[in-house]
Amino acid sequence: MANVILVGAQWGDEGKGKIIDVLTEKSEIVVRTQGGNNAGHTVYLGKDKYVLHLIPSGILRKDKVCVIANGVVLDPVGLVKELDGLSALGVSVTPSNLQISETAHVVFPWHRELDGAREVKKGNDRIGTTKRGIGPTYGDKAARVGFRMIDLIHRERFPVKLRERLIENNEVIESLGGTPLNYETVLAEYTIAADRLRPFVTNTVVYLYEATRRGANILFEGAQGTFLDLDHGTYPYVTSSNTTSGGACTGSGVPPNRMDRVMGVLKAYTTRVGEGPLPSENSEISDMLHGMGREFGATTGRARRCGWFDAVATRHATMVNGIDELAITNVDGLDTLKTLRVCVAYKVDGRVLRHMPNDCEVLARCEPIWEVFPGWETPTDQITSWGDLPVNCRHYLLSISQMTGARLTITSVGPAREQTMFL
Ligand code: GDP
Ligand code: IMO
Ligand code: MG
Repeated sequence: MANVILVGAQWGDEGKGKIIDVLTEKSEIVVRTQGGNNAGHTVYLGKDKYVLHLIPSGILRKDKVCVIANGVVLDPVGLVKELDGLSALGVSVTPSNLQISETAHVVFPWHRELDGAREVKKGNDRIGTTKRGIGPTYGDKAARVGFRMIDLIHRERFPVKLRERLIENNEVIESLGGTPLNYETVLAEYTIAADRLRPFVTNTVVYLYEATRRGANILFEGAQGTFLDLDHGTYPYVTSSNTTSGGACTGSGVPPNRMDRVMGVLKAYTTRVGEGPLPSENSEISDMLHGMGREFGATTGRARRCGWFDAVATRHATMVNGIDELAITNVDGLDTLKTLRVCVAYKVDGRVLRHMPNDCEVLARCEPIWEVFPGWETPTDQITSWGDLPVNCRHYLLSISQMTGARLTITSVGPAREQTMFL
């Protein structure tokens, strides 16, 4: 399978977890390279549902190695909870199947406090973050005042550095009207987590270098989606990491010339959770999907905003990620519709735009120009081969792939492994 970077080609929650789980069958190593426990990747094994936040979705397959690489921001207490949750479900996670980078940055309670406080202060201009402290942690990383895993597990250095940083952050928390954090409490909580995680922490760059030298198949698991990318997304309504394919290299230390392919995962329609422009948003499709009990966030439980497929956006995603192949998920969500709409261009200020504007205020005013497709009005969730899909369904999927500008290779018609077709 070679080394594949898998990215979300929309606003996150495209079904990356499910596709990663399917593709892991043919890979040896699965690597998370950015983001933190703002991600929620859902995988079903039979009737059992697993929601992974920090641990790569490859963990559910035996004999695979998962790596949390340097580009991730890691909440150690959250990770220990996730490990315990998996253990309760019978999934064994040990240092032989999970490795954590020494240089991944650590999320602290003050990061979460500041994340929440900044959102309140922004009022109507809030981003709608997951409040997991992601932005402030990456902020400290860029400001060169962060803690890395290597600092967390260092028995002498950690208590000293913690006191220093806590004093400074408490001043900020108090200035925002919050309650200062207690040193002893944070120290105790983080020391327990550090003791649990110490055996997993290693030099993952060297491990991945050696793996590439012996020709191991590596899958790079993207979190979030293209339009939440710090550089290429709908700034400022984005997350604080590079969610696009380049982030997989800086976030893992595996260089670009060792990557073979980029796979973009997208839904057959569009969703977004949180604030910010969403040109193809539509209440008809939103109400329909929510009525089916679908499209509620895996991390925060918030209802996702829904819209028709936006081909202007996905074409942009192909451009910035270099997407070679597409996996289109949630096709079954459209099964009952008589007709479907696809946004093929935007109209704003009397002009027609074929590319996404960089100015978020302009994007927010863009009106979609639609192309209408006939629906298939047939359940697809039991179909197991491409040729058996209704002709209108195949026509729709091939058309949106062509507009997106990459080859369709995987179609998904349900959350389970078996509900996946390879073209
Ligand atoms: P991720 O963040 O990209 O991994 O996606 P999430 O797990 O947050 O959200 C995707 C949701 O769609 C999850 O509930 C998946 O179980 C579900 N899902 C994935 N593919 C399909 C599909 O083809 N059909 C249906 N019905 N659900 C799917
Ligand atoms: P997965 O990996 C969907 C969104 C938040 C908010 C913005 C910034 O499951 O696809 P943050 O907490 O990162 O500072 O929030 O980004 N967001 C996601 N939306 N899926 C995700 O991850 C997301 N991770 C962050 O809702 O709008
Ligand atoms: Mg998700």
